[in-house]
Amino acid sequence: MTLIPSVALRDGTTIPQLGFGTWRVGDDEAQAAVETALEVGYRHIDTAALYANEAGIGRALATAGIPREDLYLTTKVWNDRQLEARASLEESLTKLGTDHADLFLIHWPHPEADAYVQCWRDLIALREEGLTTSIGVCNFNAPHLQRLLIEVGEIPVVNQIELHPSFTQKDLEALDREHGIVTEAWAPIGRAADLDASGVRTVADRVDRTPAQVVLRWHLQQGRVVFPKSVHPERIRENFGVTDFELDEHDLALIDAVDAGNRLGPDPDLM
Ligand SMILES: NC(=O)c1ccc[n+]([C@@H]2O[C@H](COP(=O)([O-])OP(=O)(O)OC[C@H]3O[C@@H](n4cnc5c(N)ncnc54)[C@H](OP(=O)(O)O)[C@@H]3O)[C@@H](O)[C@H]2O)c1
Repeated sequence: MTLIPSVALRDGTTIPQLGFGTWRVGDDEAQAAVETALEVGYRHIDTAALYANEAGIGRALATAGIPREDLYLTTKVWNDRQLEARASLEESLTKLGTDHADLFLIHWPHPEADAYVQCWRDLIALREEGLTTSIGVCNFNAPHLQRLLIEVGEIPVVNQIELHPSFTQKDLEALDREHGIVTEAWAPIGRAADLDASGVRTVADRVDRTPAQVVLRWHLQQGRVVFPKSVHPERIRENFGVTDFELDEHDLALIDAVDAGNRLGPDPDLM
């Protein structure tokens, strides 16, 4: 089986650097997609209460019968339940068919509700109780992270942010690094929109790999955690084939140069 590298988190745990994304995988298609991913070798699954596919993922996990300690499961609390994180996590765990998450994340800061600081305190309590091993956030910008540090005194081990060749968020990634926060890149291939960029094509031609593979490799070599999503078995397999080649500095720079400030998702301050 392909060996997927792990990244160390500040809380003493490790996370597989390559996982399987499940946004827009319907509950009815989640079982087949996750079964395929597990067959291919993925062991890290990224979901969220919002995705409404945790039951389907749970069916795939039950069918596959892989020991729980060999899996890495991430789920998230949605904006309207920031003050009900415990109930949200318990419901997610029931659907997934497990007694704990490996990583539980605040999905968006949703500053309008002004509840993410309390939510973070509640996540700390859930971790203390063992309902989740690690805790983190998604889509947190500098001021959101700053509030957790000042008001709670603990910052996340993971910040899951939109990051792909045409939207690299270098300043936010640098801030994460400065605080010992691992950056997870969502939409790692820019939802396929970045695959036609000329820098990506040039590198793919040089190393004789697909555009998706070189973009995922570009992330891995820079220490990010990624979980590309696909419901197509051939792409699920393709996206896993990223650990047996290397990009050189020039390749990395060519993909870096694709950056165009091209945000695909919402601005976290407005979501
Ligand atoms: N925390 C957050 O706020 C947040 C937000 C968004 C996403 N996420 C997480 O991040 C994961 C990944 O992000 P994402 O799903 O938005 O985008 P993505 O993984 O960058 O791209 C997925 C899209 O690319 C297509 N695709 C996948 N592999 C391909 C390949 N090898 N060649 C060509 N096209 C390919 C997929 O189509 P097919 O399925 O048809 O193959 C799908 O349309 C999500 O699934 C979710 O788990 C988190």
